[in-house]
Amino acid sequence: MSATRIAFVHGRRVWDSRGRPTVEAEVLLEGGAAGRAIAPAGASTGSNEALDLRDGGDAFGGFDVTRAVSHVNHEIARAVTGADTADQAGLDARLIALDGTPNKSRLGANATLAVSMAAAHAAAAAAGEPLFVHLAEAEGHTGDYVLPLPQIQIFGGGAHAGRRVDIQDFLIVCPEAESFAQALDWTAEVYRAAGVLMKEAGTLAGVADEGGWWPAFKTNEDALETLVAAIERAGFKPGKQVCIALDIAASEFGHGGSYTLGLEGRTLDSAAMIALLKGWIGRYPIVSIEDPLAEDDAEGFVAFTRAVGARVQVVGDDFLVSDAARVREAALRGAGNTVLLKPNQRGTLTETLAAWHAAKAAGFGGIVSARSGETEDTTIVHLAIGWGVGQLKVGSFARGERMAKWNEALRIEESLAGRARFAGGAVLRGF
Ligand code: PGA
Ligand code: ZN
Repeated sequence: MSATRIAFVHGRRVWDSRGRPTVEAEVLLEGGAAGRAIAPAGASTGSNEALDLRDGGDAFGGFDVTRAVSHVNHEIARAVTGADTADQAGLDARLIALDGTPNKSRLGANATLAVSMAAAHAAAAAAGEPLFVHLAEAEGHTGDYVLPLPQIQIFGGGAHAGRRVDIQDFLIVCPEAESFAQALDWTAEVYRAAGVLMKEAGTLAGVADEGGWWPAFKTNEDALETLVAAIERAGFKPGKQVCIALDIAASEFGHGGSYTLGLEGRTLDSAAMIALLKGWIGRYPIVSIEDPLAEDDAEGFVAFTRAVGARVQVVGDDFLVSDAARVREAALRGAGNTVLLKPNQRGTLTETLAAWHAAKAAGFGGIVSARSGETEDTTIVHLAIGWGVGQLKVGSFARGERMAKWNEALRIEESLAGRARFAGGAVLRGF
């Protein structure tokens, strides 16, 4: 017997923040320690993501996960029982080999990821450590913890808000905050001010999937103007204390080099899309843009990065899908300069970590990110801090599944008092 070997795996169906089924896994070790984790789910997914296995059919809009849960309880449980969770890479290799496909399409990335993360929690519990410490030890940097710069959504759009506005996320970062806690304080004020402004203007339609205000804007620029006004109304200097980040999620409205902005009723080619974004960067205090072009527009990514990459963070989400090989290729081409890290885009922690290692080796930045469908699971906060990634994106500043992550980071920051630094603006380009 070894205390860190898997004795038992159990999968169950639980529910996410959109009221859809998702996979939870529990891993019990021979020594008695246990870990638990829940897979998240995207709505604006990249076509090269690992497969989120759903049942299809009538129940719950086709989103049920009984097959994925059954894989956890049978095939996966059999294959990983006896595996040593002290060796996460070895455990994940078993999951990858068992699935046997390039994109987890047989077992489902939701099944494999829930087990991969639950095993990490169990290993940390066996070591008597918080997960982030356990992960940092494996990375060899326990002495220099970095609390991530949070990227927090104020307005939600795109696929998360009935496409009332084309751009998916209007977010803020607080590069001049002195701590993670202070960045949240400032964000709370901006979020509140934005809500008040929209209520006054009569443009509030509720909150979107990730908790951001769901606006009825006339143009995409209208949203940017309102965001700047909200930053000012909250008492901060736009472009100094508080800056703007965008997730264009351009794969949602762009294909084959053609981009259709529904709100403004016009279609742009790749060069015009780049010109539009460059115009926004010139007029608004934007420091980060995610998926500015579609996943199939690598040349657009190269052109955009060449134009603004020295001063703006250019993030690949659907474009890079947390894939180490894609990160390396993008770095060689000069397409983007930062990778978004979403563990369920790959289906194991080890593959997600490999994408971060590839990013670091190439001089890329990284942002650990939640999905639009989330739960109370806070594993990603531990990944961001344990792996020293430097940035964290979790959606907005409302709804329990979002706040659970921000609150977990607050607890960790407090526990590290004096032994950690806040990433601040140093992780961004041009600061
Ligand atoms: P998703 O959105 O989880 O629906 O993919 C998040 C993002 O695009 O960053
Ligand atoms: Zn995105």
